[in-house]
Amino acid sequence: MTLKQLEESTAYLKHKGFDAPELGIVLGTGLGKLVAEIENPIEAHYNHIPFFPLATVEFHTGKLIYGTLEGKKVVVMQGRFHMYEGYDLIDVTYPIRVMHQLGIKNLFISNAAGAVNLNFKKGDIMLIEDHINLQGGSPLAFKNVAEFGDRFVDMSEPYDLKMRKKVEAIAKRENISLQKGVYASVVGPQLETKAEYRMIKLIGADAVGMSTVPEVIAANHLRLPVMAVSVLTDECDPDNLKPVNIAEIIAIAGETEPKMIKLFKELIKEI
Ligand code: HPA
Repeated sequence: MTLKQLEESTAYLKHKGFDAPELGIVLGTGLGKLVAEIENPIEAHYNHIPFFPLATVEFHTGKLIYGTLEGKKVVVMQGRFHMYEGYDLIDVTYPIRVMHQLGIKNLFISNAAGAVNLNFKKGDIMLIEDHINLQGGSPLAFKNVAEFGDRFVDMSEPYDLKMRKKVEAIAKRENISLQKGVYASVVGPQLETKAEYRMIKLIGADAVGMSTVPEVIAANHLRLPVMAVSVLTDECDPDNLKPVNIAEIIAIAGETEPKMIKLFKELIKEI
């Protein structure tokens, strides 16, 4: 990755009318409906943006959408890049750097995740307070990383505390039950074995998924405040594990989505 590539990606988007967005939003699997609420949308398909990785998984539509949401200029990623699609972590986080280059001041992230904390139920929303990177790599492990920010990035509070407090207050006010916890990221695409779910719980995670952590690391590298939520789509009980049902995971994400959209929209008003 070079600064010149980032500048070319950004110039393409600016030329299309992506004018000074204040906020970036990443929408996870089964969580694309917020897009319908964007006013005066301008779309850019990932495969048209110079130097962008190509979208592959069929249920990810793969585009950046610029427009207005709750009176604020936003840029939304509908569909993201995952390590399990064969991308390296520098590609996975490239769009975050592009949105930063476009001028965003805050980043919201969503994902679908499995609940390993069995007090949490499918259909719950979990505010991510911290994470464990189990992807075996870093989006900052490249030669010229220091050209883009610090090489040794502090991760003592990777999820912005101010936004977390606001999300908690909004959830209370709007009667949305909100769990809080630690998200562990794995590579995937295979789901976890019983033994792996046991381990993930044992090391201190409440939820597990295949995304978000690289994006959050890149955001911290950019000193970009980030807020992230998981929509819990399955209960990962190693003592009673049922075969995975991807259609159900996507369906649960879709059913829970309105609560997530409400949280996001209220938070947009407050930042
Ligand atoms: N593991 C990993 N990723 C997931 C899961 C899971 O159980 N559920 C939804 N995404």
